[in-house]
Amino acid sequence: AIKGFVFDLDGVITDTSVFHSQAWHQIADKVGVSWDDQLADALKGISRMDSLNLILARGHRENDFTPDQKAALAAEKNTNYLALVNQMTPANILPGITDFLAELQAHGYAMSLASASKNAPLVLSKLGLGHYFTKAVDPATLTHGKPDPEIFRRGAEILNLSPAECIGVEDAAAGVQSINGAGETSIGIGDPTVLAAADINFTDTTQLTLANIQSQLVTA
Ligand code: G6P
Ligand code: MG
Repeated sequence: AIKGFVFDLDGVITDTSVFHSQAWHQIADKVGVSWDDQLADALKGISRMDSLNLILARGHRENDFTPDQKAALAAEKNTNYLALVNQMTPANILPGITDFLAELQAHGYAMSLASASKNAPLVLSKLGLGHYFTKAVDPATLTHGKPDPEIFRRGAEILNLSPAECIGVEDAAAGVQSINGAGETSIGIGDPTVLAAADINFTDTTQLTLANIQSQLVTA
């Protein structure tokens, strides 16, 4: 039986995936790499340095920067991103999420966070949702980022649950792959063609209710 939920943050709980995209778009422009929706989707869920490497590779510029220059570009992206995060309030919580978290808590489900973002604690505090996620995987302790299963496996472990007892919630293809690899049930939020690998697909966060999940699990 399902006893816990492991959540991605950016693009699931809050609209920060747009902020990450905006901040990276500025860097892509700076290094002369053209930006499109496909690149934006490919960056979702991917760690900071993996994201920069992907952008540079798209422009065939992967050998044009020293490690120090790359560190500076990643730091500049984070400065761009933090400028946006610092303006966040609970209004940036995606529709339906507050109700869903309260519903899960009322029904006694355990919850943890499996975000690749080193800014996750700051974002949660801006949203006022820190109390729901006292258990979170620290991305600095991971050997492999998404799509590797490590982060979602750890998200179950910190709840003292087996992966089979957990549902993972993601907006990124790399994240759905991580959930599936960990052996958890996956919910993909967003374009079902991008997230075709998910066990359950919802087009947006308003569909996240226990009733909707239960009916999807029965028909699956
Ligand atoms: C999340 C986001 C990614 C971001 C990554 C690292 O997974 O979906 O877009 O690159 O976190 O975030 P950070 O805040 O540590 O740069
Ligand atoms: Mg995400």
